[in-house]
Amino acid sequence: MRVLSGIQSSGKLHLGNYFGAMKQHIDDQHRHESFIFIANFHALTTVQDGPRLRDLTRDVALDYLALGLDPNKALLFRQSDVPEVTELAWILSTVTGMGLLERAHSYKDKVAKGIAASVGLFTYPILMAADILIYRSNLVPVGKDQVQHIEMTQDMAGYFNNTYGREVFVRPEAKLNEAAVVPGVDGQKMSKSYGNTVELFEDAKSARKKIMSIKTDSTPVDQPKDPSTDNVFALLKLIAPPEEVAEWDRRYRAPGMGYGDAKKRLAELFEAKFGPAREKRISLEKDPDYVEDVLKTNGRKAHAEAEKTMQAVREACGIVVSSD
Ligand code: ADP
Ligand code: TRP
Repeated sequence: MRVLSGIQSSGKLHLGNYFGAMKQHIDDQHRHESFIFIANFHALTTVQDGPRLRDLTRDVALDYLALGLDPNKALLFRQSDVPEVTELAWILSTVTGMGLLERAHSYKDKVAKGIAASVGLFTYPILMAADILIYRSNLVPVGKDQVQHIEMTQDMAGYFNNTYGREVFVRPEAKLNEAAVVPGVDGQKMSKSYGNTVELFEDAKSARKKIMSIKTDSTPVDQPKDPSTDNVFALLKLIAPPEEVAEWDRRYRAPGMGYGDAKKRLAELFEAKFGPAREKRISLEKDPDYVEDVLKTNGRKAHAEAEKTMQAVREACGIVVSSD
């Protein structure tokens, strides 16, 4: 079973990214053949500053390695080290109707948030389909917001296979994790673009400050509280061991618990989980050659895989490349 996922290098990664996507990617390395890439071509739809994109791309690699992605188990690489994905995106665009893209929620949401409605933003799902199909991926672990893009990928695979009368592409399936939507400090979906994140690698003091500012209702301490609607509890549930979650559930439902206690414990758990990764990241940062070497070596392997698919694609549609 081949599992593939990508994450855009478009900003500092946060708890929503971790529990919504990265945690699964890291866990999957022990179970499946895993491909994880840094979607720097996709990030161009929002980051249009060369040095910044270069730094953010390296940052995502550092984050994954610090959080425990083992580059000997999973293939961690840069999207741009396989430029053929843009060739495949073009080819897929010629078998895809405008109507399919016009239905994309993500495009509409991004434009509503003020991101420039470029042609690239509109055709973003085609490049994403190319990422998935070029590696013949079976499963794509993503957050809920990306599921429509996977369904569009299935459609595009079908359009191509039907047009050329052969099964060049494998049909991928989305793989959702438990944490479909991680709330931010204001209770909305945690997202870079809402400014409500707790970043994975921010220093302990600033993370604690953000955690202590998480929005709660005004139920007084001596009244029972509903854990199912509380943002602090939602995060505790993700980070605390199950027995402790059950204990908090009891404490919420009984009088006498203040939200401040739950926040303090959440800050401690955050530090216990991400503190060691922060240290590891600092030491990895001192060895940029190692990180570059991982990306380069893995990029070559990914490239070889992609090239096999591209030969079948070019052969099917009659595109001749003189180096073939
Ligand atoms: P952002 O909204 O901060 O820009 P991205 O769109 O780059 O995040 O998301 C990268 C990955 O992280 C996607 O798979 C997405 O589903 C997941 N993700 C992001 N925010 C959340 C969240 N709050 N809850 C669950 N998953 C999330
Ligand atoms: N669109 C994804 C996101 O915003 C990132 C991405 C690009 C991706 N290509 C992909 C995810 C291929 C999975 C598979 O999170």
